[in-house]
Amino acid sequence: MILTLMVTVTAIAQTTDPFANSIVNGVPWTDDQGKPVNAHGACIVEENGKYYLFGEWKSDTTNAFPGFACYSSTDLVNWKFERVALPLQKDGLLGPNRVGERPKVMRCPKTGEYIMLAHTDDMRYKDPQVGLAVAKEITGPYTFIGPLLYEGKPIRRWDMGTFQDHDGTGYLLMHHGDIYRLSKNYRKAIKKVANGIKGGGESPAMLHKDGTYYLFGSNLTSWERNDNFYHTAPSIEGPWTKQGIFCPEGTLTYNSQSTFILPLHRGDSIVYMYMGDRWSYPHQASSATYVWMPMQINDGKVSIPDYWPVWNPTTMEPVKDLGGTVIPTNFKVSTKGAKLTLPFEGTRIAVIGHSFNNGGYGRISIIDSKGDTVHTNLIDFYSKVDDHGLRYVSPLLPYGHYTLEVECAGEHPHWSNKRGDYFGSHEDWVTVEEVRIY
Ligand code: GAL
Repeated sequence: MILTLMVTVTAIAQTTDPFANSIVNGVPWTDDQGKPVNAHGACIVEENGKYYLFGEWKSDTTNAFPGFACYSSTDLVNWKFERVALPLQKDGLLGPNRVGERPKVMRCPKTGEYIMLAHTDDMRYKDPQVGLAVAKEITGPYTFIGPLLYEGKPIRRWDMGTFQDHDGTGYLLMHHGDIYRLSKNYRKAIKKVANGIKGGGESPAMLHKDGTYYLFGSNLTSWERNDNFYHTAPSIEGPWTKQGIFCPEGTLTYNSQSTFILPLHRGDSIVYMYMGDRWSYPHQASSATYVWMPMQINDGKVSIPDYWPVWNPTTMEPVKDLGGTVIPTNFKVSTKGAKLTLPFEGTRIAVIGHSFNNGGYGRISIIDSKGDTVHTNLIDFYSKVDDHGLRYVSPLLPYGHYTLEVECAGEHPHWSNKRGDYFGSHEDWVTVEEVRIY
């Protein structure tokens, strides 16, 4: 059955655009080529007034490594696709049917070389190693060297991150709280400075502020999100103390998993931006999104007290009122092909919907007056915890008449972990509560 909900009066835009200079959490971002920004398990390197974003260039069908992507931006909002910085290799650790995750890039101060470290594995996560790739230019292409070695052997742990200290020393952060110091040229690990920090998790990320080191990580729930936590220490070698969670309990870190902390220089101070992933298996390329927010650090305690769906990374302020012309839709379907159709006039449209534990995928399309699809994206309406919020924001469009379509895709995110436990949704619900026109 095809259910079509037609709103007959064309909705007309209101002028202010809250998204123009904003980071919008939990919705797919569109790059300069009209494609989703596809850089998950990411890091950012700031250089010469630009931010370079590196991440997993996910596929929409399998978990096999297709490459690591590099994007650039001057404002953390508009992203230019630079290239696949490290492509699929012919063979070896990042050859066909292998896993490649969490690429982290640092410029080695001693050699000037760009060093990329990443988790490499087999498809069942039984062969974890840290892969090393190098480049002369920040955007690459990176040349894959092989496993990063410690005492002549690969480091066999899963999730990893990196950290560059104020004095330029490079560190490798490993799953379950191992930390290694890198050699001066960053091409090998030379000392294990922390060994199995108690309560250490996965997806490690670090910052160093005023003589305190902060190590962030998640619990082990595969692509599902959980309440991430942090440890602190007066020295990177410890002693490390578990501090607990930094987002309100039960929000599952605002439905994200840590990957990196970016120091942002704002005025005379440094604000640390949390970067996390909102995974969406199997359609990670289209539908996995990002949650980036400034963290508050006071007296050695870290928190992100409120979720900011939309915020300005220049002023570091949330956008409190989304504005626009509000059209209530009350659209809730789980039948494949069921469709919401809404004509509108303006430059942008935002879709607000309910995600919950039995949500599925919805295909959103914007069709122009000639009948051409000017933008389309698969959207994930699943989340383990209920959320009423932004699910889609269109790119800025030339002012005109368009039609929004939201179609139930008849599938849902789901996956299992190594032990075969089922995660994700069981149904295909797509719920649109309102749209806003700009
Ligand atoms: C997560 C990990 C991700 C990925 C995933 C696979 O726990 O943080 O990077 O490896 O498991 O299930």
